[in-house]
Amino acid sequence: MNARGYRARRALLRHARMRNSARCMDSDRLFGVATSLIEPRIDHQTKIVVHRAEQIDHESAPYPVIASLFRRLRLDRGDVFWDLGCGYGQVLICGALLNRRARFRGVELLGERAHEGRRIARRLGLANVEIVSGHVHDVDFGGGDCFFVFDPFLGTTLARVIKRLCRIAERRPIRIASFGMTNEVMARLDWLRPLPPERGGGEGVLDLRLFTSR
Ligand SMILES: C[S@@+](CC[C@H](N)C(=O)[O-])C[C@H]1O[C@@H](n2cnc3c(N)ncnc32)[C@H](O)[C@@H]1O
Repeated sequence: MNARGYRARRALLRHARMRNSARCMDSDRLFGVATSLIEPRIDHQTKIVVHRAEQIDHESAPYPVIASLFRRLRLDRGDVFWDLGCGYGQVLICGALLNRRARFRGVELLGERAHEGRRIARRLGLANVEIVSGHVHDVDFGGGDCFFVFDPFLGTTLARVIKRLCRIAERRPIRIASFGMTNEVMARLDWLRPLPPERGGGEGVLDLRLFTSR
């Protein structure tokens, strides 16, 4: 992590104490992610045609959700965290600023977003962040210990990813964090056990949910 990374880390820790998203500076401003410049330049119509079955809308997990995610996961040295459908990589960047000993990997279908995520990781000197551009089906995430999904996949893509996660869980314990509509799908899987919510925090249907393999 370079000097800019340490400054971002200090700002992040100050914000980590704030649980109210309205009071919290958003993570794009915090790290200099150019989402609002890049997103309008993406030719969404063409992308929708090319990636027909995929859900390519972008929304970043709100910063208080990311902060809660890493408070709850308490990643260990050497743990490998994957954000499947990582967008601009804000979750990975926050994770790497908070924990220098774990590794943070992501896959993102749209090259423009993945490229920006890699630029920010380089800018902050985060050697433990790796962002791959491509389809989740083409990426080997078999070495992961924790996985985050914020509504990246639909239908058969989601079903295939879940099957692959289940196969990993047959070999060793994994944790899965989900946020949004995917919660409902995860909650129905009999090989996952829900973990209790954070003290003082509610757990609504669409809120951050943590699961561990049985
Ligand atoms: C709702 S965004 C979440 C971004 C990020 N996880 C976060 O919380 O800030 C979901 C992302 O998944 C990506 N995505 C959708 N289908 C994908 C696929 N098949 N392979 C890789 N990424 C995909 C989309 O392009 C989008 O950027």
